[in-house]
Amino acid sequence: MPKAYSEDGYIASHTYTTGFYKEQTPAFLHYALLSGGLGPRLPAAFSSSEAFASCDIGCGFGLTPIIAAAVDPTADIWGFDFNAEHISGAKALAQAANVPNVTLLDASFETFLDHDTPDFDLITLHGIYSWVSDESRQQIIKILHKRLKPGGVVYLSYNGLTGWASAAPMRQFFYDYTNLTDSDPFAGASNAAAMVNGMRAAGAAFFGVNPQAGRLLDKALQTDARYMVHEYLNGNWSLFSLVQVADELASAGLSYAGSADLTHAFDVFHMTPEAQAMLGSIPNPLLRESARDFFMNPLLRKDIFVKDPPLTTSDRQTEALMDQRFCAMKLAGQLPQHFNFPRGGVSLTADAHAAIKTALSKGPASARTIVDNSGVELKSVLNGLKLLANVGFVAPALPEAMTAEGQQHTDRFNAALAEYEKGSGERVPFYASPITGGGISREADAALLKAFGVRV
Ligand SMILES: C[S@@+](CC[C@H](N)C(=O)[O-])C[C@H]1O[C@@H](n2cnc3c(N)ncnc32)[C@H](O)[C@@H]1O
Repeated sequence: MPKAYSEDGYIASHTYTTGFYKEQTPAFLHYALLSGGLGPRLPAAFSSSEAFASCDIGCGFGLTPIIAAAVDPTADIWGFDFNAEHISGAKALAQAANVPNVTLLDASFETFLDHDTPDFDLITLHGIYSWVSDESRQQIIKILHKRLKPGGVVYLSYNGLTGWASAAPMRQFFYDYTNLTDSDPFAGASNAAAMVNGMRAAGAAFFGVNPQAGRLLDKALQTDARYMVHEYLNGNWSLFSLVQVADELASAGLSYAGSADLTHAFDVFHMTPEAQAMLGSIPNPLLRESARDFFMNPLLRKDIFVKDPPLTTSDRQTEALMDQRFCAMKLAGQLPQHFNFPRGGVSLTADAHAAIKTALSKGPASARTIVDNSGVELKSVLNGLKLLANVGFVAPALPEAMTAEGQQHTDRFNAALAEYEKGSGERVPFYASPITGGGISREADAALLKAFGVRV
């Protein structure tokens, strides 16, 4: 294995980007399960009155767990990574921003279980599963088996088979080129992409029969160099179907509960009636998801698994949906009523649109409050909010009491960022929001930042 790599083939010489991923936050996962989960199964993780504990496996620079800790001072948040530079950067930020309830460990999948940790309600892995060895995946499964509470939730993302299949030869070429020319990974990835682009320009037949590979090459030519290195230059790069992943996770006692990709709720706008009928005729939910991938072609699958989920009734699920608060992701006054999908346009009813717009321009609101204040029919408000969440115009928000409790802690975190950046030279691209319990881009409009509870 070239020296840039860890023993199991992960690129260890170069650090990754500093990102925040909403799919790893409890509020978002809770809503994803409520709105599109498989039947009436709400995991205990989101309803327990005990203090919440979560762990981010392979957390990189740790911004996602640090924000999770900053917004919920009662939670016990953990993250670990075997790249020492990632963890020292993460610890420096947590310390500078006064976030005491996050523990960041310099540990590998293999050594994590040697540490004294609590059992977790939520374990997340973003950008890990496709890029590590078979042995590392087995270590991860051992962690899930031993450290996830009964009723706990796992979120994991991985490269989907259908979306990436045609890019496999290109990714192998990037990897081989970098290692056979003994290139530095940044130069190797960039030169290899330029070379493959040249091959395409010279008429390489591969791109004629694999148009998706061409689209991914276009993306590779423009993307962040650190993403390129971690996406394309690892010794391991495996594409999976849900059936394969579910099979591996079953040995940790986990079963598939739904997707964190909210488009699942709106197949009707993405697929022909024939396609929907075909999917509807597949009784096995895992096989149905794998078939759906042929239609939707996702690059990244974002799956949610649960351990021994307690059953709840569909009445309780509807009640929970009615109480789910939302905030506007764009300025509330600009919420559109009509949206275009591949299968045609769709509109919120005029009264639901007006009621949602009025409510959200005053702050976060639930379907129950919107109905109480406007008298509009519940079904059209719920459907309107679901549609707006699907297209990213509204985001699930935390209960009011949690926002109130988290406000001063997020204030402290957000206020510390500028000073931290001056000292470290590192850019932190997200503020913490006590409204969503997640991050919001620091480039966002000032009015939107205010609506997200960011006071800087
Ligand atoms: C693509 S990055 C994703 C980082 C972060 N989850 C994110 O999405 O920003 C993959 C991470 O896994 C970490 N990693 C890879 N193999 C590991 C191992 N055996 N033990 C612990 N961390 C590992 C890497 O150091 C890297 O930070």
